[in-house]
Amino acid sequence: MNQYLNRQKKFWNKEIKNFDAIYSHNKSRLNNWLDATFRWDMYARFEYTMKNAIPIQGRSFLDVGCGAGHYSLEFGSQGAQKVIGIDISEKMIEICQQRAFELQLNDRCQFLQTDLLEYQPDTKFDVCIGIGLFDYIPEPLSVLTKMGEVVQDRIIISLPRFWTWRALVRKVRLTIKGCDVFFYKKEQIDRLLKQAAFKRYTIEKIGQLYCITAYV
Ligand SMILES: C[S@@+](CC[C@H](N)C(=O)[O-])C[C@H]1O[C@@H](n2cnc3c(N)ncnc32)[C@H](O)[C@@H]1O
Repeated sequence: MNQYLNRQKKFWNKEIKNFDAIYSHNKSRLNNWLDATFRWDMYARFEYTMKNAIPIQGRSFLDVGCGAGHYSLEFGSQGAQKVIGIDISEKMIEICQQRAFELQLNDRCQFLQTDLLEYQPDTKFDVCIGIGLFDYIPEPLSVLTKMGEVVQDRIIISLPRFWTWRALVRKVRLTIKGCDVFFYKKEQIDRLLKQAAFKRYTIEKIGQLYCITAYV
C-alpha cells in the first residue's frame, strides 16, 4: 500500500464511528437534524443505488470502498447471490464481517481489506458500485477503468460536485484532519467515463452529488 493509501486508511480507521452514525442516527437530536437537512443527498444516493441496481436477486455485486457495509448488506438481504465488499480500512472490514455474521448474511457477503487496483477477482461481477469513494481518489481514471474490467453489466458511482458550498467546507475540514478530498465538474466526469470506455451512462444531479450509472 503506498503512502497516500496508508494515510487514507489511518483516517478511515479513526473516522469509522462518526461516519457510521450518519446511517445509524446514533447522535444528538441536533446532529440528526443537521444530517437530515444538510446531508439528505447521502440518504437519497442510497435509494438511487438500490433502484439502479435492480434486479438484485441472484446477481453478484462488488462494493468498492464498502465502509461499514450498508450497501453490501442491503444487497445481501435483498437476495444477491454474491457480494464482495472491499475497503483499505481494516476497521471497516471488521465491522462489516461482524454485521454480516449477526445478520446471517456471511454465506453470501464477504469482505476483504484491499485496494481495488490490487484486487484480482476470479470472475466478473454483474454490478460494481463505488459510493462516496471517488471523493478520496487522486487518480480516478485508473479506478474507473478497473471497475470497467471487473464488471459485466454496470457500475453505479457517486461523485461530489465541484461548485457547491459543501465542497469548500469539506475541503477545509478534511484537510485539517489530514484527509485529501476531490470534487468533480460534469465535463470532467464525461471525459473520465469515455476514457474508461463507458459509452452509455446517465448522470443525475442529487443535491451536492452526481450519481452515475454506466453500462459496459
Ligand atoms: C465515505 S466512506 C464510504 C463508505 C460506503 N461506500 C458508504 O457510502 O457508506 C469511503 C470509504 O472508502 C474507502 N477507501 C478510500 N480509498 C479507497 C481505495 N483506494 N480502495 C478501497 N477503499 C477505499 C475508505 O476506507 C472508506 O471506508
